[in-house]
Amino acid sequence: MLTEKAANMDAKAVAALRAVSLVKSGMVVGLGSGSTAAHAIRFIGDRIRAEGLEIIGVPTSSVTNRLAGEVGIPLIDIPSNHGIDITIDGADEVNSSFCLIKGGGGALVREKLVAAASRELVIICDPSKIKLKLGAFPLPVTVVKFGWEATKCRLQEICPEAHLRFARESEEPYLTDDGGYIIDLPLGVIEDPDSLERQLKAITGVIDVGLFVNLATSVIVGNPDGSSDELTRNSP
Ligand code: 5RP
Repeated sequence: MLTEKAANMDAKAVAALRAVSLVKSGMVVGLGSGSTAAHAIRFIGDRIRAEGLEIIGVPTSSVTNRLAGEVGIPLIDIPSNHGIDITIDGADEVNSSFCLIKGGGGALVREKLVAAASRELVIICDPSKIKLKLGAFPLPVTVVKFGWEATKCRLQEICPEAHLRFARESEEPYLTDDGGYIIDLPLGVIEDPDSLERQLKAITGVIDVGLFVNLATSVIVGNPDGSSDELTRNSP
């Protein structure tokens, strides 16, 4: 049934469909951001209408909040008491230790908060996101707007090419849902994601970094032929 439905989908949708089959009534579900996560949100909406699936969603961005509302998912903020059962989210890059680069869509702070509150973080992607080493994708770093140029200079000591992100087709800086700016770091190769995350987070003015280390519990890769693979995690 899953295979039949997946046959005519793009690879991102294939991964999303498989991940959504893990969702059960009664769960609190973290809802990721980006085009792959959007497929998952729509599939959850389909299941609510078709089977009466009863879940509560925790959105990771204003865009996701809107989409989830449109497809009929009731929403809450991150629950303080019992946490989130499962989060389904995309990624910009994934390595074999399940370290991720996220934040291409600008939502990394809320995505990391939701991921950290989740028992399971299922990453969904197409094969282009799987990398031997992270870093070909510029690493997003969210910074406080006040004093951002000073923070950028500190980041340039680590990555000379670090630059402010601008809103699409605009001369205005990109503004996150929480009013921060994003500095993108084209690093090339990241040898040690864990220590780089700690080094960057120690810089005053940095809110958070798009490196997700030890958060993903599984990775589902959709393939263009409608099949999908669940990857196993190698030790870091
Ligand atoms: C948004 C993200 C997304 O998960 C990431 O950019 C992947 O996006 P897409 O699914 O559109 O390829 O981290 O902040």
